[in-house]
Amino acid sequence: MQVISFVGQKGGVGKSSLARVMAVAAARRGQKVLICDFDLEQLSCVEWAATRLKNGVEPEVDARAFKSLKKLRKSTEGFDLAVVDTRGLADELTTDLCRESDLVFLPTGTSMDDLRPTLALARALAKRRGGVAKIVLVLTMVGKSERQMEQARLVIEQAGFDLLEQTWPLRDGFQAEFDAGRAGSEASNPYLRDSARALEQAMLAQVDLASVAAAAR
Ligand SMILES: Nc1ncnc2c1ncn2[C@@H]1O[C@H](COP(=O)(O)OP(=O)(O)OP(=O)(O)O)[C@@H](O)[C@H]1O
Ligand SMILES: [Mg+2]
Repeated sequence: MQVISFVGQKGGVGKSSLARVMAVAAARRGQKVLICDFDLEQLSCVEWAATRLKNGVEPEVDARAFKSLKKLRKSTEGFDLAVVDTRGLADELTTDLCRESDLVFLPTGTSMDDLRPTLALARALAKRRGGVAKIVLVLTMVGKSERQMEQARLVIEQAGFDLLEQTWPLRDGFQAEFDAGRAGSEASNPYLRDSARALEQAMLAQVDLASVAAAAR
């Protein structure tokens, strides 16, 4: 079983939205996937999965609330993939979850206000003994400024971290899709769907790389 976590040092950067894209993509390719929702104050993924079930959106995606690493280890038997959604602010539990993960995605905005804390978290995670298998940053909620995106890419590259080549664009249209229990990759608007699918494919490629790396360990 693979564990893929979505982690951040800022709230509202798209952790839950990307976790849903990831979970739907894995389910669509026939994997048994469980979203492990560690954000007990919001339970965004649990609520979303319930709406999805109510609205009959296929494939069904199972999401459950989790409070501890112990429970995660105990409850994921029989699943191929655990997609872990975490709280807005990284805490000790987040660090432990990262150490348990085969791959950690760190969504971040393009501003230095967002990049600074994200890179600090990435460094802290990379430094922890036992380490995190793999950290990949994702530029999220991006606007239309290519210049802003390029600057962010450069900052991340200079910091020595991997960055997903696809970004998650900020578009109002996504919100109605989430509210109906769909992931961005299932949006009815082709532009929204295609951009989410491109991100989905890039994330899946990282998941497959992590799986090969785990097999080689
Ligand atoms: N691409 C997008 N375009 C527009 N709105 C978005 C997009 N992605 C997510 N949102 C909205 O932005 C808000 C934050 O997204 P999301 O919940 O995925 O972030 P998060 O990192 O999980 O937040 P939190 O730290 O509160 O858990 C939500 O209201 C969500 O519906
Ligand atoms: Mg969230």
